[in-house]
Amino acid sequence: MSLISSVYRKGTGRLKKGLFLAFEGIDGSGKSTQIQLLHKKLQEAGKPVCSTCEPSGGPIGSQLRQILTGRMKADSRVIAALFAADRLDHLLNETDGIAARIEEGVTVLTDRYYFSSYAYHSVDVPMEWVIAANAESRKVLQPDLNIFIDIDAATAMERITRNRFHRELFEKQSLLEKIRNNYLKAFELFKDSEHILIIDGTRTPKEIAEVIWNRIEELIDR
Ligand code: ADP
Ligand code: TYD
Repeated sequence: MSLISSVYRKGTGRLKKGLFLAFEGIDGSGKSTQIQLLHKKLQEAGKPVCSTCEPSGGPIGSQLRQILTGRMKADSRVIAALFAADRLDHLLNETDGIAARIEEGVTVLTDRYYFSSYAYHSVDVPMEWVIAANAESRKVLQPDLNIFIDIDAATAMERITRNRFHRELFEKQSLLEKIRNNYLKAFELFKDSEHILIIDGTRTPKEIAEVIWNRIEELIDR
């Protein structure tokens, strides 16, 4: 059976859309670990799946990586606006835009989406401004689930410094504390209009994966 024929809605002749799942959390929270586990699990379940991340691999994403590693400088408002532009490109670009893949029936897992912008940029810029800058992405594609892996800043620092050679711009404990608080504030703001799953990220990877899978199974069967 081809990839595409396997995702037709039974009896309707219409393609069933893929799920869009956004992983969120402060640096070192365990997003990549969980994305890998879920990707494998979905593949084993026979679902077409692809994993991606922000900043994206496109031209605006590359520029953002230069900024994040300190090789290029930019005002915090410019950085926030570049992330918003990168997100739209990640959704809409003609080569591998997420929006088209979802329409084709592929489930897309992304390491970060607009809640990352709300949390990281509202350290320097009002959150309302960041929300407004990302309004078009939210209109084009809202996640079926925002999965927030919650760890405290001290645990994040311990993990980051243990495993990485260079610290990026945001990888400092007091900043991570502010970013975590901004995430919680944003989730409160959007609690009635977004699907949000908050998980204790200090549990073992296996336990976290189980919590996520239980929720995803419900979504797959809908
Ligand atoms: P992120 O993608 O959010 O930055 P990673 O998945 O890369 O996070 O995890 C950061 C580090 O923490 C890695 O060394 C990873 O092996 C470890 N890690 C991931 N999940 C857990 C967990 N639940 N408990 C302890 N360590 C973890
Ligand atoms: P990266 O090392 O690629 O990912 P991670 O820490 O999630 O493993 O770093 C991405 C950095 O970009 C991270 O510090 C968060 C930051 N970021 C923003 O500031 N705004 C955004 O909108 C996004 C998506 C990320």
